[in-house]
Amino acid sequence: MSLVLLGPPGAGKGTQAQRLERDRGLVQLSTGDMLRAAVASGSELGRRAKAVMDSGALMPDDIMVRIIAERIDGIDTGFILDGFPRTPAQAMALDAMLAEKGLGLDAVIEIQVDEEALIERIAGRFSCAKCGAGYHDKFQRPERDGVCDRCGGSEFVRRSDDTAEAMRTRLEAYRRQTEPILPYYRDKGILKAVDGMAEIDGVTQQIEGILG
Ligand code: AP5
Repeated sequence: MSLVLLGPPGAGKGTQAQRLERDRGLVQLSTGDMLRAAVASGSELGRRAKAVMDSGALMPDDIMVRIIAERIDGIDTGFILDGFPRTPAQAMALDAMLAEKGLGLDAVIEIQVDEEALIERIAGRFSCAKCGAGYHDKFQRPERDGVCDRCGGSEFVRRSDDTAEAMRTRLEAYRRQTEPILPYYRDKGILKAVDGMAEIDGVTQQIEGILG
């Protein structure tokens, strides 16, 4: 099964992708995580990505298409794209990439969330430094304070692009560059929407209902 999760920053794409990976054995392909790994490695790509991400703008399409093409090539199970495609050019490049492999997307799921809720979600977000499991100060705390549910790690990190200023730019980038993808997938008949204002478990149930 090949899925795309779409939605503004903080909508819950990463949260739901991690659950789909856990429950359905699909591979989560998060372009944001890939770029953050490049930043951590100190590579040339990472240096460039850090400046762009901290500003809240998007990386160039050609770089992102190349990164995702390399990752999709090595996967023979299903996958969930989280954070890609983000522009119409990326959506078309993805279709071409999948068609070459005789594959197609089964569903594109848009997680719809009110703008005011996004700010609160981003402000309270943190993740395990060791395994990347995502948490929230209010909505998704680890079962034992200070201990990661998934790997037992005790170090947590917050993202450097989760600032009020970068958040404004990220939202603007979503409205201007990513939302235009929606009609493209609607016309193909594969776009589904879920109410992302529901609690985390409720959003998961809606997605499971779509996937059957
Ligand atoms: P990326 O890492 O993809 O960030 P994003 O799209 O801004 O999305 P987020 O990861 O911020 O949010 P999310 O929807 O995953 O929410 P989450 O599940 O964490 O991209 C970062 C940057 O990389 C971009 O700005 C760009 O510069 C670059 N980039 C990446 N891909 C690119 C591409 N394809 N092209 C160009 N540039 C690219 O949830 C947020 C919080 O809310 C969590 O704490 C969670 O616990 C909580 N939460 C989740 N769901 C709920 C709920 N239902 N109720 C209450 N709380 C909830």
